[in-house]
Amino acid sequence: MTFASTLLQWYSTHKRTLPWRGITDPYRIWLSEIILQQTQIAQGRDYYLRFTEHFPSVEILAEASEDEVMKLWEGLGYYSRARNLHAAARQIVAHGSFPRHYEDVRALKGIGDYTAAAICSIAYNDPIATLDGNAYRVYGRIYSIEFPFDSKEGKAFYKELANSLLDKTRPGEYNQAIMDFGATQCTPRNPNCEECPFTNSCGAHEEHKENLFPVKAKKPIIKERFLNYFFIFLNDQILIHKRGNTDIWKGLYEPYLVETECNRDIFALDDPWLNTVISGKGILKVHGRDIRHILTHRILRTNFYSIHLAQCPQELPEGYYFCPTDHLDRIALPALIKKNMKLVFNP
Ligand code: ADE
Repeated sequence: MTFASTLLQWYSTHKRTLPWRGITDPYRIWLSEIILQQTQIAQGRDYYLRFTEHFPSVEILAEASEDEVMKLWEGLGYYSRARNLHAAARQIVAHGSFPRHYEDVRALKGIGDYTAAAICSIAYNDPIATLDGNAYRVYGRIYSIEFPFDSKEGKAFYKELANSLLDKTRPGEYNQAIMDFGATQCTPRNPNCEECPFTNSCGAHEEHKENLFPVKAKKPIIKERFLNYFFIFLNDQILIHKRGNTDIWKGLYEPYLVETECNRDIFALDDPWLNTVISGKGILKVHGRDIRHILTHRILRTNFYSIHLAQCPQELPEGYYFCPTDHLDRIALPALIKKNMKLVFNP
């Protein structure tokens, strides 16, 4: 049996039933792949269903406002995916239809090698192998590949291997089989080697080195950031602004923020506008201290405060405005902010 036939046989009995399986609509396949890039299947499925219900076609997605798309994406994280999705929908509509060829799909905003290969193999049956984290792990273990998968030569090696193993008559099935195999059988921790069809040919298993593959070169640098958030209320309104496009949480809304170099006490924040607000005009409450929130390559250490103002400040900081609190459910907020805001409303 070839690698592909063993894998596809495994897939025929173990494949997961997923709402984007058995379809060839490139728009829906694209949507599922973008959602699943950094998201677990269980959560991704709900968002996929919401998105396809709300935006049943690429034209309807392209016509939506950015805020509407971000609102539907709220809670899923990695928000640049949503902004790129929206921008690419507009590119597709301008082009006239979903592009048919790999190079044109790859040229769309937010689409890399993996996503273009997934769309073209699943929607169009193009014989192109996908390489995601699951595939690197499966190939890395079975073929005990010593090249780091995040190095230039490693990437080239894996790409050639994957394309040589691919079942060229059923590339979409094959690619999804590798994904399911990596996600449910050859898992990062505690792989199910006892019931694996590759047990007798797996290089890593033979040497009890499943945990050493795939080999990775780079250790990510984890940076800490210190964010002080102020829920500033004026009657039934709260001071918020929309984040810019150059940092985390692009295009999402948040309350008044003071970022510092280290974890500072509130009276050492050295923020002139805040100082005028705190000094005498409002009632200040502490809601959370040094709450840690982990993002890719970053740990956010956050403090949360609330202030109820008796009167409107003479000037508002640039970009901020008072938003009626009953409008908050129409705009997208980072999950961390939403959770802590709920605690302010319902302590
Ligand atoms: N992860 C990303 N894309 C997937 C797909 N099409 N099926 C299963 N898991 C996936």
